[in-house]
Amino acid sequence: QTIYLSEYTVPAYLVDHVDLRFELFEDGARVHSTLTIRRNPQGSELAQPLVLDGDSLTLEAVHLNGDELAPDAYEEHDGQLVVANVPEAFTLGVVTWIEPQNNTRLEGLYKSSGMFCTQCEAEGFRCITYYPDRPDVMARFRTRIEADRSAYPVLLSNGNPVEQGALEDGRHFVTWEDPFPKPCYLFALVAGDLVEKRDSFTTVSGRNIDLRMYVEPRNAEKCDFAMDSLKRAMRWDEEVFGREYDLDIFMIVAVDDFNMGAMENKGLNIFNSSCVLASQDTATDAAFQRIEAIVAHEYFHNWSGNRVTCRDWFQLSLKEGFTVFRDARFSEDMGSPTVKRIEDATLLRTAQFAEDAGPMAHPIRPASYMEISNFYTLTIYEKGAEVVRMIYNLLGPAAFREGSDLYFQRHDGQAVTTDDFVQAMEDASGVDLGQFRLWYEQAGTPVLTVSDDFDEARGIYRLTVEQAIPDTPGQTDKKPQHIPFALGLLGAGGESLPLRLSADDEAPQTERVLDLREPTQSFEFHGLSEKPVPSLLRHFSAPVRVNYPWTREQLLFLMSHDPDGFNRWDAGQRLAVDVIQSLIGQPDSAEIEPRLVDAYRHLLNDTDLDQALVAKMLQLPSEAYLVELSESADVPAIHHARERVLNHLAVALRDDLLACYERNQGGGDYQLTPTAIASRSLRNTALAWLLHIDDERGRELANSQFEQADNMTDRLGALRALVNSGFDEDRTRALDAFYERFSDDPQVVELWFSVQASSSKAGQLPQIHRLLEHPAFDWKNPNKVRSVVAVFAGQNLPAFHNPDGSGYNFLAEQVRRLDDSNPQIAARLVTPLTRWRKFAPTYGQQMKAALEGIRDKQSLSRDVYEVVHKSLAD
Ligand code: ARG
Ligand code: ZN
Repeated sequence: QTIYLSEYTVPAYLVDHVDLRFELFEDGARVHSTLTIRRNPQGSELAQPLVLDGDSLTLEAVHLNGDELAPDAYEEHDGQLVVANVPEAFTLGVVTWIEPQNNTRLEGLYKSSGMFCTQCEAEGFRCITYYPDRPDVMARFRTRIEADRSAYPVLLSNGNPVEQGALEDGRHFVTWEDPFPKPCYLFALVAGDLVEKRDSFTTVSGRNIDLRMYVEPRNAEKCDFAMDSLKRAMRWDEEVFGREYDLDIFMIVAVDDFNMGAMENKGLNIFNSSCVLASQDTATDAAFQRIEAIVAHEYFHNWSGNRVTCRDWFQLSLKEGFTVFRDARFSEDMGSPTVKRIEDATLLRTAQFAEDAGPMAHPIRPASYMEISNFYTLTIYEKGAEVVRMIYNLLGPAAFREGSDLYFQRHDGQAVTTDDFVQAMEDASGVDLGQFRLWYEQAGTPVLTVSDDFDEARGIYRLTVEQAIPDTPGQTDKKPQHIPFALGLLGAGGESLPLRLSADDEAPQTERVLDLREPTQSFEFHGLSEKPVPSLLRHFSAPVRVNYPWTREQLLFLMSHDPDGFNRWDAGQRLAVDVIQSLIGQPDSAEIEPRLVDAYRHLLNDTDLDQALVAKMLQLPSEAYLVELSESADVPAIHHARERVLNHLAVALRDDLLACYERNQGGGDYQLTPTAIASRSLRNTALAWLLHIDDERGRELANSQFEQADNMTDRLGALRALVNSGFDEDRTRALDAFYERFSDDPQVVELWFSVQASSSKAGQLPQIHRLLEHPAFDWKNPNKVRSVVAVFAGQNLPAFHNPDGSGYNFLAEQVRRLDDSNPQIAARLVTPLTRWRKFAPTYGQQMKAALEGIRDKQSLSRDVYEVVHKSLAD
């Protein structure tokens, strides 16, 4: 059942051309496929049987070179169609019958709110027709779609429309042709009653591209932001990566039922509605930013993924890590770069580090898997992007761009490996990335332990860095990795000190990137008159943990002096973590570090510092992050300690919070600039803190903001603050009013669900059960499942980790329920339980028991099987 990278072999047959004809009906669809196939010259000399993949297909006919094959000329079993005797080159015709209307897995061709759509990555194409479903088989596709004209006026596929016309019985057809060879995971089809939004883009070489968005009529007014984001992304990719769009049309479609965020099908990107539709009234600032990033991400895949694709699914990070790096840099350029970096590092340190320390830990290029859908992970995506970023930092922007150009030029039209990518970077720059390649092979988060001493007599400051990479399932005794370690040193007055690596260092910089390669390495900095304060791993120069015995004094100092915005924020986080951790298990009479209040007061009133950074610095470390940092987590104790600090700060800073709120009142037109976003974030943080201590003035402000808001960020901010307050009546009234106002907008209803599911005040288990009974809840819609079940288990830690184990059993029950209908979603939902070893035994044992309850279900999907069995293995 396990597939190994080491067992990769080239395909025995290649497909040059695919001709598809879809007959779409209400009770199913007939798919006629004609493949032009030839023996792979790189393959074995011996004649091989032709083996095609299939899943949930009813086979109706097979033709070889136009002649129907007798049933004994082929075999159909275990998800494969095998034709034993085939010539060197031939055409194969396959007719299959499928039932999109009953497809609840949302893989292959399925129906979502009355429209037909597809999701083929990674292995969904085999649910449409028999095919060599692997990314190293690249073919040109021609697709004819036939359907009822009134129900499905819009018929879309990849490439350019080449023919259309009327058929009998009110039916019609459109034929599409994609001139670029592609793997079948990039195939897409859409048929529905959709409105079209048009725009255009002129490329750098002067070609005019037709841009189109297709959405359900009720969403017609929610397309502008995505369309503008698309044009910004197209321009940016030309300017920064030299990538120009290649087809004449680029299309985006929004669908409500979608397992993931979006999909980069060639020329026809398909999006989860929540990742593309937005308006001032219905989308938060965070949603706008996510949409901009995802639209860019999918667009960027046109080169990093489509023109150059993956040889096999072990190489997934080749396209995902690189593309996330590209979209992150795009977002940095569009908004506040420091804030974007903080957000990415937070996600990595909270969730990816946890994954890397858990039972599913894998390198960014895994060596084996059972179900590839389980490997669309934070490790592949986010850590993969950090690995590309390290290459960028090691090479510098100019050489990195040359490496990227070489990669695209050398491999255009090919299916390649992560090693091909690193090789291009190495060849273009001359930088030795030999040891660096270990990042692709070894799992686990490296831990850097830093110590220092100061030789006063010689004026030398010495830093010693030890690196250790923890064991992960199947990997022990790892080799040291090549880690770019950026740092600076600060003098007592907060000034940046010159970093002289030798006594006669002429033009010393104030920031350096040290190359760590050994298990232990020491660095000496000369010409210093006093012991400096180190600012380590600036801008998060590598995805690692850093331990250094910072004193609170030093952290406070860095919080207000570090010229690196990222590390200023990081110092504040470390200080808050230290304070909260020191209170865990202490009586409520234990004193809370008085300097924390001073530091936060200073921040709240610091109008000189970038307000976007201030807004981030005011966020206390999340409970999930505190869990990740602990050995044997006791969630109620962590929750209690964090709440104490939050209450303490809010009480002490009440007047400063009110002043901050007033200062950031807004007014004027709604804008999406970093400044305006920061201002909204500050006022909503102030509101949340005030309501946390049930402040009466805060309550008035929240109620009036809730009523008068002209945008969703403020309305939801007020709602969230009220929901998490002790004002029960206000909570109920606001929730009801919000639902009433937005009940016909699924994306806003999802927000409404998640505000409740994430709240310890409104999301205890009986209340979660009530949400599941709500008429707007729908088990078939992944967004709804996520907004209640996944949010409860992932963001409402005190309720999920109820000591009686009810939260765990609840999650296990929902996983079992979803396993038959949508295994991909079910497998994702298991994640919180897989971390059972992280928690204090009374919790961990109950989590483990819940996992065993899933394991014992009859006929478990491969997706859930893999996650559960790996989590329970010792
Ligand atoms: N390639 C898509 C993206 O990141 C994600 C597709 C995920 N599909 C899946 N079956 N997990 O842009
Ligand atoms: Zn992607």
